[in-house]
Amino acid sequence: MTLILGLESSCDETAAAIIKDGTHVLSNVVASQYDLHERYQGVVPEIASRAHLENIMPVIEESLGQAGIHLNDLDAIAVGNRPGLIGSLIVGVAAAKALSWSLQKPLIGIDHVQAHLYAASLCDKDANASPIDMSPDKPALGLVVSGGHTTLYLMNSPHELKPIGRTIDDAVGEAYDKAAVILKLGYPGGPKLDKLAKTGNPTAHDLPRSMLKPGSLDFSFSGLKTALLYAVRGKPIGRGKSATFKRDATDLSEQQIADLAASFQAAAIDAVIRKLKRAVNQLRKNNINPQALIIGGGVSANSHLRERAADFAKRYSLSLHLPDLTYTQDNAAMIAGLAHTYFIQNQFDNLSLPAIATTKCI
Ligand code: KG4
Ligand code: ZN
Repeated sequence: MTLILGLESSCDETAAAIIKDGTHVLSNVVASQYDLHERYQGVVPEIASRAHLENIMPVIEESLGQAGIHLNDLDAIAVGNRPGLIGSLIVGVAAAKALSWSLQKPLIGIDHVQAHLYAASLCDKDANASPIDMSPDKPALGLVVSGGHTTLYLMNSPHELKPIGRTIDDAVGEAYDKAAVILKLGYPGGPKLDKLAKTGNPTAHDLPRSMLKPGSLDFSFSGLKTALLYAVRGKPIGRGKSATFKRDATDLSEQQIADLAASFQAAAIDAVIRKLKRAVNQLRKNNINPQALIIGGGVSANSHLRERAADFAKRYSLSLHLPDLTYTQDNAAMIAGLAHTYFIQNQFDNLSLPAIATTKCI
């Protein structure tokens, strides 16, 4: 039996988790900072790193307590060391190094984006999980949809991710958050917009689905965001910073806001699904036959994306791997789980492990 402690502090969640044998979650503790950042409608880096400092030790202690194990039972310490806010990452990385050094246990640095694609492999401690079957002959399509990333990968293993498409402007989660600000739904915007969209008419507004150049597998969401802004406020009067608008969301009825949310959600998710279709068609033309579709990141919690992805995977004969809702948002279970795949190959880091702002999966 292998027990790995994972730590995650890349943005506004301080998290620790204990994973048994790579897939079984013995504990998964997340201290969220939503209340600290809510009034700013976004994450304030200095506030985030200070809160990580306060939360990291209690969160680690709670993860050990819930799993019913002691520090000495651990086989390795894993930490998300990239990408993220440097001041936030440093807190998790320093804690992981201190534990690794004092306990004399291996240290494993993990890329947070790559870990989102491992989240679908996690299960409860009593469940029966089998790893996602992939190899160079049986590749998988991996889609990360989060607040910072929207990237499509061709995967031969959890370690081999070849990016084949990425956003050229906003990430889809970022577009959701900005749309929620335009609609005045509050923070965090994505889940609120998803919920409200269920009560609206998705065909009320015909918002753009950007496909970019023929054959492109890249994504773009800034045009959709601007189209929503104009649908809510009317065309701007004047240009640049001095532009004014006729109205804002407070002048619209609840039903009008719900219709706008539903139309935005329909367009954003449709754009993602259309790119998945384009990707599979292109790959199959080139005799590359993806067998599975793996989705991860905060937006993989989106109810409409989950429905459309299920439908798409069925039509294209792909096995679909979505994380349980608990593991869609930032968490340390995915960090410790992915670390197990490095642990069994004896791939460890040393105490010079850096915190890095960017992902290695580009
Ligand atoms: O993966 P994540 O927790 O953090 C990053 O690594 O960025 O993703 C957070 C993003 C936020 O933009 C949030 O609004 C979005 O995921 N999100 C959603 C939903 N739940 C979270 N977006 C749309 N629908 C949801 N249900
Ligand atoms: Zn994330």
